[in-house]
Amino acid sequence: MHADIQEVLFTPEQIAERVAQMGDAITRDYAPCVAAGEGIVMMCVLRGAATFMADLSRAVDLPLEMDYMAVSSYGAAAKSSGVVRIDKDLTGSIKDKHLIIAEDIIDSGLTLNHLRRHLMTREPLSIKVAAMLRKDVPRTEEVDCAYLGFDCPDEFVVGYGLDFAERYRNLPEIGILKPEIYK
Ligand code: IMP
Ligand code: MG
Repeated sequence: MHADIQEVLFTPEQIAERVAQMGDAITRDYAPCVAAGEGIVMMCVLRGAATFMADLSRAVDLPLEMDYMAVSSYGAAAKSSGVVRIDKDLTGSIKDKHLIIAEDIIDSGLTLNHLRRHLMTREPLSIKVAAMLRKDVPRTEEVDCAYLGFDCPDEFVVGYGLDFAERYRNLPEIGILKPEIYK
């Protein structure tokens, strides 16, 4: 375990098992769309979801496009600012395709709800969210998440793509960061 981690929440083995199940569910749910000739785009919310989407996409046994969008909501602070800005847009079109948004973690849900509303205006056939983690916190807005990895406690977590100030993304496990690191 990394010295800055207080507690490991999910091991690489637990993550792999859960992601495989999520991939199976997506394969099952979208097979009829593919059979009907409809396209699927899996998009990653950079940078935190890159690790998750790399694994999730390989667990889906259907043809799909992969695309990437960068948004900022946190900066280098540990608390959500509530401000979401698109830093990098998708390269391809999602019009008349099914969009799956891969997200690392749903905290307040502000990022995802903002993104979903924005992407709806581009006329996809559907939008669903696949999130690796969802924090156990009270929310002002409901967040609709079709595929969820794990619920996690209201702590600052890192690893498996999740960072604090751009560090710890390459940890293979998901763990609680020691508070003295970010306070
Ligand atoms: P939300 O808008 O409050 O749902 O924040 C979502 C974004 O904040 C995620 O995509 C993460 O990038 C970041 N975030 C929220 N909680 C954590 C955490 O515990 N560790 C690392 N990043 C987090
Ligand atoms: Mg993020």
